[in-house]
Amino acid sequence: MTGNELREAYLQFFAEKKGHLRLPSFSLIPQDDPTLLLIGAGMAPLKPFFTGKMKPPRTRVTTSQRCVRTGDIENVGRTARHQTYFEMLGNFSFGDYFKGEAIPWAWEFLTEVVELPKDKLWVTVYPDDDEAIEIWKSQPGFPQDHVVKLDDNFWEIGPGPCGPDSEIYIDLGPERGCGKPTCGVGCDCDRYLEIWNLVFTQYDRQEDGSYKDLAHKNIDTGCGLERLASVVQGKKTNFETDLLYPIIEYASKVSGVKYGEDEAKDVSLKVIADHARSMAIMIMDGILPSNEGRGYVLRRILRRAIRHGRMLGITGKFLEGAVDAVVEIYKDASDFGELVAKHDYIKKVISIEEDRFAATLNQGMDLLNKEIDELKAAGKKALPGEIGFRLYDTFGFPWELTEEILHEQGLDLDKDGFDKAMEEQRQRARAARAANIRVQVPDLSGIDVSKLAVDPEAKESKVVAIWKDGKLASEIHDGEEAGIILEKTPFYAEGGG
Ligand code: ALA
Repeated sequence: MTGNELREAYLQFFAEKKGHLRLPSFSLIPQDDPTLLLIGAGMAPLKPFFTGKMKPPRTRVTTSQRCVRTGDIENVGRTARHQTYFEMLGNFSFGDYFKGEAIPWAWEFLTEVVELPKDKLWVTVYPDDDEAIEIWKSQPGFPQDHVVKLDDNFWEIGPGPCGPDSEIYIDLGPERGCGKPTCGVGCDCDRYLEIWNLVFTQYDRQEDGSYKDLAHKNIDTGCGLERLASVVQGKKTNFETDLLYPIIEYASKVSGVKYGEDEAKDVSLKVIADHARSMAIMIMDGILPSNEGRGYVLRRILRRAIRHGRMLGITGKFLEGAVDAVVEIYKDASDFGELVAKHDYIKKVISIEEDRFAATLNQGMDLLNKEIDELKAAGKKALPGEIGFRLYDTFGFPWELTEEILHEQGLDLDKDGFDKAMEEQRQRARAARAANIRVQVPDLSGIDVSKLAVDPEAKESKVVAIWKDGKLASEIHDGEEAGIILEKTPFYAEGGG
């Protein structure tokens, strides 16, 4: 099955066989949820249905939700399974079915629709959840000793609906493992791959960290599409599935670096593949690169990808071509029509940002490399915060990027020093703004505001007031600074004017 076929199979299984309402993926931008910067789980946009704040369109829903998580961005490309962008397949019950259905349906989907080998599947459960253990053990062909109790089987994402969970793993074989005697389900290595998490959502975590019972019991599940694809397609990593590999092929072509020959270069190829999807889909959802919030996450991902391009020896612009590869992957998938529609727009946004960073990246790298040499020669471990700040402020290096480059060299960034330099800069900017108020507006109460209008077609207009140095005037001349008010204007003042 291709990735797109797997998505369809999942959604159809739950919609057609198990009575769920199939909804399109929600935007990556959370709606009315100040606790989240970006959607990072299938349940996140559905929180009001779990808490009862809103009535769901049906008590059973299924989605393939686009998600971005950057908490472990440094692992991307280094393991088989970490990504910043992924799709989470999910089936949800809002006070409808519970464990007795969620577990058998997951088993049925994995073993009958996707036909995974039963003897390779393992599950973990919350230690006191005997009910879940009994249900698992009664599934047809379930290997009776493949249940493990784990303390951390409790799923939550900040305040909101949460509960004990049960995770489904597949054993990919000892050759994929770390070989440690302690290796088993839950080990960080690549042998046991978690493919699906079933959350028995019963609590509502409060802002103060306490838990309240939800009015009814719910189900929230999350199955990573790319992970499942890697298993079904018999690939060693998510990056080799058809949901990512075409981007690796593209980056490999542009750089002339073959995939699979050099571990460090493979990391860069995988980072570019992962980040290209993140940036394209974030921009599709209306996010633009900036210095704060979601825009900063996007900028950081974009700039990180550009740096990895340089590490592969790519000297020119290359991200627009990566976007083409992303669109090609999704062009026939349901839910991605907007990606095709905004193809050119996404490329343009990325192109501008790539030009902007390319202009300073080499100089910034020269500075950083020089500093790294000096730190090493002096036997020091941390880059001073002011240098990190200069790289940020003058050369556009997100501090996390600087920190990551330092980590690669066994060094660190003095983050406190960086924060201090950033704060000082903010104060300087505030002081400069205060000293820079040049527009002193005189008393304009004599003007009839009702006669003033924004008219996009306006080519001629009448000047109704002129002022210089805070005083009304009757004329202005070349080279003077003055304020004027026009009766009609095609200009629209943004941001509150
Ligand atoms: N919300 C659960 C997760 O993200 C399913 O793992």
